[in-house]
Amino acid sequence: MIKPHGSDELNPLFVYDPAENEALQKEAEGLPSIVVSSATAANAVMLGGGYFNPFTGYMNKADALSVAEKMHTTDGLFWPTPIMNLVENAGDIKAGSRIALKDPNVEGNPVLAVMDVEGVEQISDDEMAAMTEQVYGTTDPEHPGVAAFNAQGKVALSGPIKVLNFSYFQSEFPDTFRTAVEIRNEIKEHGWQKVVAFQTRNPMHRAHEELCHMAMERLGADGLVIHMLLGKLKPGDIPAPVRDAAIRKMVELYFPPNSAIVTGYGFDMLYAGPREAVLHAVFRQNMGATHLIVGRDHAGVGDYYTDFGAQEIFDTIPEGAMEIEIFKADHTAYSKKLDKVVMMREAPDHTKEDFVLLSGTKVREMLGKGIAPPPEFSRPEVAKILMDYYQSLNG
Ligand code: ADX
Repeated sequence: MIKPHGSDELNPLFVYDPAENEALQKEAEGLPSIVVSSATAANAVMLGGGYFNPFTGYMNKADALSVAEKMHTTDGLFWPTPIMNLVENAGDIKAGSRIALKDPNVEGNPVLAVMDVEGVEQISDDEMAAMTEQVYGTTDPEHPGVAAFNAQGKVALSGPIKVLNFSYFQSEFPDTFRTAVEIRNEIKEHGWQKVVAFQTRNPMHRAHEELCHMAMERLGADGLVIHMLLGKLKPGDIPAPVRDAAIRKMVELYFPPNSAIVTGYGFDMLYAGPREAVLHAVFRQNMGATHLIVGRDHAGVGDYYTDFGAQEIFDTIPEGAMEIEIFKADHTAYSKKLDKVVMMREAPDHTKEDFVLLSGTKVREMLGKGIAPPPEFSRPEVAKILMDYYQSLNG
């Protein structure tokens, strides 16, 4: 099986031993505490599940700046985005403090993790702007990822953590939320060697479905892990339970039995385009995938990134930095001439009119009016789930 990133064994930071977990929860009641940002909580969930292997906690300023600038830590470990615990004000918390990190996303703010603070460092405005530009390719406050990153405060608390639960993900998505440890185990149980991961934050239409089939076929893969984001999205994106239902229906009806598993991870969308694609690749390696599909405008938003910037970034990554490989997919759409979904570059004689192309806005508008997109665009069973959702919004 493919090795985790940066170590021979996966080192999840979740405390699996029930007695130790309980003892830490007790201890946490008496510790100084902070309610962390949603991004910090999501980082804890990812660290807890082994996705951010081999890190043991939140980065210090030197590592965060180094990762943002050069995609490696001060020790030379390859990693594409900062993993930080940023706060407005550290109060009495100092290097050497042991603190409880409270969950902003669960009622009553229960303790999510215990942290041994090793550093409390001020990030200057210039450093914050540089990191933002390097990771997101823009400092535009209208960019949803930039806005979330910069809303957290500029004091970085660094140091190791022990994770006590998986926030709201396990309770709200019991069938779908999986840790990297669990996915590795499922892959092992299936006996899959070559495993394709599909990242998504959307319901899957025909193009997505066929993209997965094409990747599996061309790579000769044994299995597919559909791995959806379950954390926070920008307003207007489709909520996870609706996406989950639509994707499950599609897999049930249109994938051979035992060829695909439907799973999800607890992280807020960064919308960081190319950098997020690299992060996606690294944490899919940690969950045991050998390949990640990267298509058009992967992890993008608005017009901030080029269509294939998220593929091109992989050409700049030093040989051997990661083991997982990328399946680079061209813009995929249904060809009316060929009566099937194709990658556009593989149909050079086609004009735009030969494809069934619908914008996201157009599709949302149709669904909201109870009009199903054409079956060449969306499976009718998937369209039904999405129409029900959009119509419920209209009251
Ligand atoms: S993402 O933010 O999670 O990347 P989305 O769920 O829309 O967004 O896309 C999931 C994956 O499918 C990404 O790799 C994306 O590039 C790819 N993708 C989506 N639609 C197409 C398409 N029509 N052609 C090619 N790739 C696509």
